[in-house]
Amino acid sequence: HDLSVNDYLRQHIRTVPDWPAPGVQFRDITPLLQNPRVFRVMIDAFVHRYMERERRPDVVAGLDARGFIIGAVVAYELGVGFVPIRKKGKLPFTTVEETYELEYGSATVELHADAVREGDRVLLMDDLIATGGTMMAGKRLLEKLGARVMEGAAIVDLPELGGSARLRESGLALHTLVD
Ligand code: PRP
Ligand code: ADE
Repeated sequence: HDLSVNDYLRQHIRTVPDWPAPGVQFRDITPLLQNPRVFRVMIDAFVHRYMERERRPDVVAGLDARGFIIGAVVAYELGVGFVPIRKKGKLPFTTVEETYELEYGSATVELHADAVREGDRVLLMDDLIATGGTMMAGKRLLEKLGARVMEGAAIVDLPELGGSARLRESGLALHTLVD
């Protein structure tokens, strides 16, 4: 991690105890989005990394719902397309789907069957990695369509939940800005 970016962004993440369920420490990124200077530092950190010739993706995929906020902005800045991976029942066209376990519940996500092409290099984005289930499901969906996830990126990693370690063990490269 870039230490200064890590410390700066950390100050703008709010912790809400026992939400949405007892025992969960919810890491709320809305203060970080609300402050235009902090929002810019966060987006620029990603854009700087993925502008690099060898890291530049063909497409950015964002995970419902908070992954849309950063994924769409990063895609726009990189000059590549954005595809949403959505909670089940939201996408109108033919989809592929994956079911997975969350820190608090379970979920099914979907991706339009024509969202990516075989061989596409995809940057997969979300706001936060907890158990890693959401990002793993997104990776599987993209791979079902023959795309390759070159890296998973998130603002926050919660390493004590083991998700980032599991994702890395599965062979996914990960980049996060704050632990
Ligand atoms: C949160 C978060 C990630 C996911 C991380 O989303 O935004 O997508 O959980 O958890 P995991 O690593 O254990 O899978 P949530 O499912 O709460 O949906 P939301 O973005 O619609 O609030
Ligand atoms: N998604 C899953 N676990 C979370 C947490 N602890 N804080 C914010 N978002 C989450």
